[in-house]
Amino acid sequence: MTAANTTQRPRLGFIGMGGMGSRMAGRLLAAGYDLTVYNRSRERTQSLAERGAKVAASPAELAEGVEIVLSSLADDAAVETVMMAPHGAIFAARAGTIFVDMSTVSPALSRRLHAAGRRNWVFVLDAPVSGTTSVAEQGELSIFVGGERAVYERCKPIFEAISKASLHMGPAGSGVMTKLCANTMLGLGMQALAEAVTLGTRGGLQRDGLLDALAGTAVVSPSQKSKLENVRNGVYPPAFPLQLMAKDFRLIQSAAADLAMAMPGTAAAAQVAANEADRQSALGHDEDFSSVVRAVEQMATA
Ligand SMILES: NC(=O)c1ccc[n+]([C@@H]2O[C@H](COP(=O)([O-])OP(=O)(O)OC[C@H]3O[C@@H](n4cnc5c(N)ncnc54)[C@H](OP(=O)(O)O)[C@@H]3O)[C@@H](O)[C@H]2O)c1
Repeated sequence: MTAANTTQRPRLGFIGMGGMGSRMAGRLLAAGYDLTVYNRSRERTQSLAERGAKVAASPAELAEGVEIVLSSLADDAAVETVMMAPHGAIFAARAGTIFVDMSTVSPALSRRLHAAGRRNWVFVLDAPVSGTTSVAEQGELSIFVGGERAVYERCKPIFEAISKASLHMGPAGSGVMTKLCANTMLGLGMQALAEAVTLGTRGGLQRDGLLDALAGTAVVSPSQKSKLENVRNGVYPPAFPLQLMAKDFRLIQSAAADLAMAMPGTAAAAQVAANEADRQSALGHDEDFSSVVRAVEQMATA
C-alpha cells in the first residue's frame, strides 16, 4: 500500500473486541487501516494493540477521533449502553461520522439508532453478519446492510476487507431483519437435524451409519453438515454459542409478535434452545448451538 492511498483511507474505530469484533478488527489492521479499538474489559484489546491498533478509553473518545465507527456487541442492551447512553458514541461523534453496527440486535433498536444518528448529524448502517468466528478470521463473512444506499457504497471497501459478500437490503433495520430470517433457518435447521437423528437412533438405526447417510443427501444443508462431527463425537465446542442462538430466537419471536404473525415451528425450536442454554449456563458451560442435538436425544430417553 502506498502512502498516497493510506491518507485517502478513513480512520476507523471498532467497538467490541469479542469473538467476532476482534477478528474483523484484525483483518482491517492487516488491510492497512488506521484503527482505534475499544472494549469494555480492556484486556481484550491487548492483542490488537500489539498488532498496531490504538486503544481508546471510552466509546466517546473513540468516536471523537475517527470517520467510521464499526461495532460488534453482544445484544440490544450492550448497543444501547455504548451508543446511546448520555456519554454514548453517537453523541460524541463529529457531524458526518458513519456508524456501522454489526451486532445482531432487534430491528426496532436499529431503527432507533438510525433516528438518533439523524438527529445528531451522523449516519448509521445496520450491518449484521452471517458466519462464525473462524469464517470472520478468514474474511469470508456475509454482511446484510440496512440504511442509506449512498452510505453503504462509501463503506464497501471496508466490507470487502472483512467479507466475501455484502448486500444492501433496504432502509434502516433491513439488515438485521435479513439476519433474523437467516437465523430462523439456522435454528430450525438444527432442531430438524436433532429430531431426525433422534428418530433414527430410537428407531434402531446405527448412529454413525445414519450420520453418513444424512451427510450424503441434498436435504442436509452445508451448515448442518459442518456440525455432523460434533454430533458424531458428542462434543460441542462453541463456534456459534447456543446462548447467542437462544438470544436470536428471542429477537425473532419478538419481531414476529410485532408483526402479529405466528411462527409455531420457531416457537418449539426456541423453547428447546432456551431450556438447554439455561441448563448449560447453570453449569457454567458454553457450548455450540448444535448441542440441541444432544438435548433432544436426551429428552427422548428421559
Ligand atoms: N459468534 C458468532 O459465531 C456470531 C456469528 C454471527 C453473529 N454474531 C453476533 O455478533 C455479535 C458479537 O458476538 P460475539 O460472538 O463477538 O460475542 P462475544 O464474544 O460475547 O463479545 C460480546 C462483546 O460485547 C461486549 N459487551 C457485552 N455487554 C456489554 C455492555 N453492557 N457494554 C459494553 N460492551 C458489552 C463485550 O465486552 P466484554 O468483553 O467487556 O464482555 C464484547 O466485546 C452478537 O450480536 C452476535 O449475536 C456472532
